[in-house]
Amino acid sequence: MSVKQIQDEVLKLKKEIGTTILAHYYQPIEIQEVADHLGDSLGLSRLAKEANSEYIIFAGVDFMAETASILNQDKHVLIPNPESCCPMAAYLTADKVRDFKLKNPNLPVVVYVNSTADVKAESDICCTSSNAAKIVKEISKVKGTKAVLFGPDANLADYAEQKSGIKCIKMPEEGNCYVHSQLTVDDIEKSRINHPDALIVVHPECTRQVRNLSDFVGSTAQMYKRVKESSTNEIEFVIGTERGLMERMAQDLPEKKFYSARDDGMLCYNMKKNTIELMRYVIDHLDDSMFEVKVSPEIAKKALKPIEMMLEYS
Ligand code: 13P
Ligand code: SF4
Repeated sequence: MSVKQIQDEVLKLKKEIGTTILAHYYQPIEIQEVADHLGDSLGLSRLAKEANSEYIIFAGVDFMAETASILNQDKHVLIPNPESCCPMAAYLTADKVRDFKLKNPNLPVVVYVNSTADVKAESDICCTSSNAAKIVKEISKVKGTKAVLFGPDANLADYAEQKSGIKCIKMPEEGNCYVHSQLTVDDIEKSRINHPDALIVVHPECTRQVRNLSDFVGSTAQMYKRVKESSTNEIEFVIGTERGLMERMAQDLPEKKFYSARDDGMLCYNMKKNTIELMRYVIDHLDDSMFEVKVSPEIAKKALKPIEMMLEYS
């Protein structure tokens, strides 16, 4: 069966059954093409909250589907490949957060959504890459502090600190995303030489040196918006994030030219574990508990508060 035939079947089944498919920009392009909504992690959390179908198929990594499940405890949230997980989340455990809190009892805890539900449950507020600086500023103002605890991404913590002026103590120092932290100063300098007229856009999970050399820093949805709203003179773009976003931009904006900031095209293997074949299978097996993402009611109750607070503040 061709990819197109599988996609047609997914679309037909989706309509018959009335499920909602949410997909992140890093998903394989053939999944993006059958999704009801595409977005970054913040946008998808909002959409998950608003979805009015009994079943939501979440094409992304585990923490995104978990967040959707926490926000929709009366609905079924399924992920096409339950092994699609974000390794960044493993840098921080609930025990580690409790340790940091003991040592810094007055500081608010800000947790990036790329984390486990247990870790979220220990936090005061969550954030995504699109609102990290704003959330840090707001929560430190509310709590009357000049610093916050922030984890698990050390690069995003640094970015939030740079933008907000509030000290972000990293939980832990070494948390990072292997896709974004592999982007080097050398890659950016080479991109400038090879594409002198291009605007270089990168994700906040990149290192400070890389961010400082780039022209625009933003979440996937913010990068997409910047490129989509670019002037007619801005034709070329170097994209410093996972290649799925670049593929989306190339399809939607054929009049622009896109180049990856790295020769290997920046690939998140975890995001690509979801395939169109698995999507086809799941939509036909909605009651198979293997695909359902569930968080224990006790943890879900605790994690809901910081997620809802983030949605309120952003
Ligand atoms: P966004 O917040 O841009 O969706 O990023 C999520 C992510 O996993 C980045 O690597
Ligand atoms: Fe996690 Fe990085 Fe993949 Fe995003 S790109 S899901 S942070 S590993």
